Amino acid sequence: MANHPMQTIANDPHRITAGPIPVVPVKGESVRRARAAAAQLSTLLCERGESPGPYLVVGETDAWLEMERSQVRVAFDSATMMHRRRGGQNELLGKAVGVKASRQPSVWDATGGVGRDAFVLADLGCRITLCERVPVLAWLLEDAINGAKVSGYDQVREAAGRMTVRHEDSRYLDVPPGDVIYLDPMFPARKKTAAVKKEAAILQHLAYPEDDAEALWEWAWQQPARRIVVKRPLRAPVLGAQKPSHALAGKSIRFDVFVRQYDDLNPSQIGE
Ligand SMILES: C[S@@+](CC[C@H](N)C(=O)[O-])C[C@H]1O[C@@H](n2cnc3c(N)ncnc32)[C@H](O)[C@@H]1O
Repeated sequence: MANHPMQTIANDPHRITAGPIPVVPVKGESVRRARAAAAQLSTLLCERGESPGPYLVVGETDAWLEMERSQVRVAFDSATMMHRRRGGQNELLGKAVGVKASRQPSVWDATGGVGRDAFVLADLGCRITLCERVPVLAWLLEDAINGAKVSGYDQVREAAGRMTVRHEDSRYLDVPPGDVIYLDPMFPARKKTAAVKKEAAILQHLAYPEDDAEALWEWAWQQPARRIVVKRPLRAPVLGAQKPSHALAGKSIRFDVFVRQYDDLNPSQIGE
């Protein structure tokens, strides 16, 4: 497993108690990993059809979420991620976070999800901590990072080495001074393709129903971060009470960037 062991559900005091997702082993493969996943997630091993889903399907080397024949995979050297690495939106995300040829900030991704934005930033050279409160997503992130660490692509291995997962609710954590906080609190269907809609449906099913984007913002503002970046649907209102320093708009999303002045941080936030 990982260099940074994932906190187990049993010992995480801030865990979210969305119902446990059963684990289904892949037919014809060893059930060892599936059993271990079920134990780690304090859930049951079952067969497809024994519950309505979603399931976490776990094979010897692969794992994915499945609901009504739709799947969500987290694989950082998949064709989709390879394509995304070259996409224009990455440039925007990198700019929003403040990546320069000479500077790759450490980023605290407080809404890890399926790690796509985080991987892009790690690929740009940032060290990144991904916080995800949904246990099965944190498990998939950890599994995908472990897989990426033995990828045949050097760049994927190196990026994975810069990623750490924490299975926790971000609002209970303290971010190290100077990190950039990245927030992407919702799962809107950003593209209207059927596959993206299905994937969003599975992820929305898992996400904690409470919409606490404002609370996350409040938490972020209390942290000693020099920059906060919030991903929003293009026309959505700004999160929180502060005006962004600037925004970077793409086709369907925008990044609101809050560059914080020394005066915005109280002395306890910067260790004085
Ligand atoms: C839209 S997704 C993020 C997608 C992510 N940027 C990506 O590229 O895959 C939002 C995620 O944040 C998680 N989340 C929301 N509030 C959280 C909190 N307070 N602490 C940790 N995770 C949180 C949700 O469970 C969900 O998985």
